[in-house]
Amino acid sequence: MNNILEISYLIASVTFILGLKMLGKPETARKGNLIAAGGMTLAIIATIFLYENNEGIRLGNYLWIFGGIIIGSIAGTIAARRVQMTAMPQMVSLFNGLGALCVAIISFLEYFHSYQFAAPVFNVKFLIILAGLVIGSVSFSGSMIAYGKLEGKIKDFHFPFNQVLNILILLVILVLLAIPVFGANHSLNILYAITILSLLYGLTFVFPIGGADMPVVISLLNSFTGIAAALGGFLYDNQVMLTGGILVGSSGTILTILMCKAMNRSLANVIVGSWKSQGGPSSAHKEVKGSIKEISVSDTAVLLAYSKSVVIVPGYGLAVAQAQHVTKELEALLEEKGVEVKYAIHPVAGRMPGHMNVLLAEADVPYDKLYEMEQINPEFVKTDVVLILGANDVVNPAALTDPSSPIYGMPILEVINAKNIIVNKRSMSAGYAGIDNELFYNDKTKMLFGDSKKILSELVSEVKGL
Ligand code: TAP
Repeated sequence: MNNILEISYLIASVTFILGLKMLGKPETARKGNLIAAGGMTLAIIATIFLYENNEGIRLGNYLWIFGGIIIGSIAGTIAARRVQMTAMPQMVSLFNGLGALCVAIISFLEYFHSYQFAAPVFNVKFLIILAGLVIGSVSFSGSMIAYGKLEGKIKDFHFPFNQVLNILILLVILVLLAIPVFGANHSLNILYAITILSLLYGLTFVFPIGGADMPVVISLLNSFTGIAAALGGFLYDNQVMLTGGILVGSSGTILTILMCKAMNRSLANVIVGSWKSQGGPSSAHKEVKGSIKEISVSDTAVLLAYSKSVVIVPGYGLAVAQAQHVTKELEALLEEKGVEVKYAIHPVAGRMPGHMNVLLAEADVPYDKLYEMEQINPEFVKTDVVLILGANDVVNPAALTDPSSPIYGMPILEVINAKNIIVNKRSMSAGYAGIDNELFYNDKTKMLFGDSKKILSELVSEVKGL
């Protein structure tokens, strides 16, 4: 039985690696997800029915186990089906937090079971248990705050000496952790104190971080949960938990680094805070003054239809308006008229990594029409019209020119170099970073106000009539 269990774990581990590799490409991502989920199901079923402890006793408790699985599966399926694409980061945060809570509870119970039998020497088992408890608890409470912030239920909150307090809490946790690990004392009070302080640290760690930085924080917390799960794998000598944890931990770390790179910020800068965390961006940056020029739908249609090259810049507003299908329709119409159409994808456009790619894939926009920032930026000089659909921060030139801007240093789509710039949004409201955009006041820019879906539908009818 043990061999079959080990083989199941091996198969599951391979499916995780394969699935993760397939998630790297939009064409194979769905299949990769299913393969990894299949491997996880195999590992769970095999553990439930084949795992035996040292005395040869199986898990039992099937009513509890399957009751939990059924309730969890129903809740997860409903949540995943109902969630709007724009609310994905919140859901990831919530699910990540629950995973972290599981690891924290496992560690808590393991300490509870073994503290009376601990030998008064350096104890690796206690180190693993308590490290899992600390990381799991931090990730749990931090993820809940991240979820609340993205849902708009919790505001950024920065209190004096925040970083000093954080360092202090961490030091106390480390000292408390060393006590049972080095065998000085194994009391339950230490367990309670470490749990409470770790939960508190998760709060004080995430509270002051700016709302716009939440996806980075979620990815970081995700990697924490992975590491905590890997520690659980060590504890139980369970290879599949170890592999899964390591994969989540490392991929979360890689994604965190990539996001920071896309915003041209260091992780320390994200954590210690800039953006909204220190008094709010609008307090620092220059206010933009000037006049704007509007353009009508019919003039836009003529401009687009008689251009040689058009670059569409999708942003968060396009996702909110759910205008991806009508965008694709416009693209096809323009191509029929001999216009070359490309899409410029900024790495942090929208509200989650790959948001625009997923959105446009829904409307069957071919991947070879999507150009990453580095590829498209040199092309803007020879572009006749840039059509910006619900994007704002990712085309804000202040990122390049205004050192006082909270987004200064973030690489942007340099649409300002194009011959004509049309910006479609509903009003002059700011984007996620909460700042003005001088692009809207540029001589080459014309504003096309209105909901993206409505405006694009009208544009499609106009272009058809030309
Ligand atoms: P934003 O800067 O957030 O701007 C979106 C614009 O869409 C808004 O100015 C809004 O203006 C407009 N809009 C909203 N609903 C609309 C609708 N129905 N029709 C037309 N326009 C609509 O978006 P972005 O340029 O994509 O930049 C993304 C921002 O989010 C960056 O600051 C980024 O750092 C941050 N962020 C990114 C991520 C990731 S990983 N992608 C995650 C979280 C945050 P109106 O209200 O005037 O219409």
